[in-house]
Amino acid sequence: MALKVAPSLLSADFSCLRDEIKKIEENGADWVHLDVMDGHFVPSITIGPVVVQSLRPHTDLFMDAHLMVSEPEDHFKQFIDAGVNLITIQAEVTAHLDRVLRKIKTAGAKAGVALNPSTPASVLEYIWPLLDLVLVMSVNPGAGGQAFIPEVLPKIEYIARQISSRKLPIELEVDGGINRETAPAVIRSGASVLVAGSAVFKAEKGMSLIGDLKKMQNVL
Ligand code: DX5
Ligand code: ZN
Repeated sequence: MALKVAPSLLSADFSCLRDEIKKIEENGADWVHLDVMDGHFVPSITIGPVVVQSLRPHTDLFMDAHLMVSEPEDHFKQFIDAGVNLITIQAEVTAHLDRVLRKIKTAGAKAGVALNPSTPASVLEYIWPLLDLVLVMSVNPGAGGQAFIPEVLPKIEYIARQISSRKLPIELEVDGGINRETAPAVIRSGASVLVAGSAVFKAEKGMSLIGDLKKMQNVL
């Protein structure tokens, strides 16, 4: 499967999000990653459904919403109504992962689960058939621009093996600290979607990183 790149809008210029999305589209982005923070699960407050709704008519990109919120059950529906294609919730916030995933799918979106660096992959054990995506956090959620945590690499490998041995159509996304230096090990470990925020929007030649990451898959 071809590697996908999902730039995170968190590091974009929020005064012109529509133009920022156009730029990543022109540079070959596959998805746009939307980091939703509620000021509770993590200290920051970021993008709400009204922002998503106003961007939706301006792009055809697949919208990948990463909900870093304490009460995903109360919020996911508004994001689906605003036009996101996939809702990922953090495993740590609910005792009812199975129930919330089923509700997301019933509401018409794809469903994913995100794992913090310290969260074991074993939480996925009985929900594999419900998953469209697993998101391995390679930084602690809350901010862009943090350093990649290499200890998550064995977890990425383990999940990639599970997906392939179970022959399930699940994307394996990795998020946090992805750049030209850290991406090769992540790709080798089996990631199928790479999120990159600061390395795309804040670094020099950031936009060309999108194409460069996609090409890396062929040379590793
Ligand atoms: C962290 C977010 C990430 C973040 C990635 O809480 O989930 O998506 O924006 O940013 P970089 O690529 O700068 O680590
Ligand atoms: Zn994210």
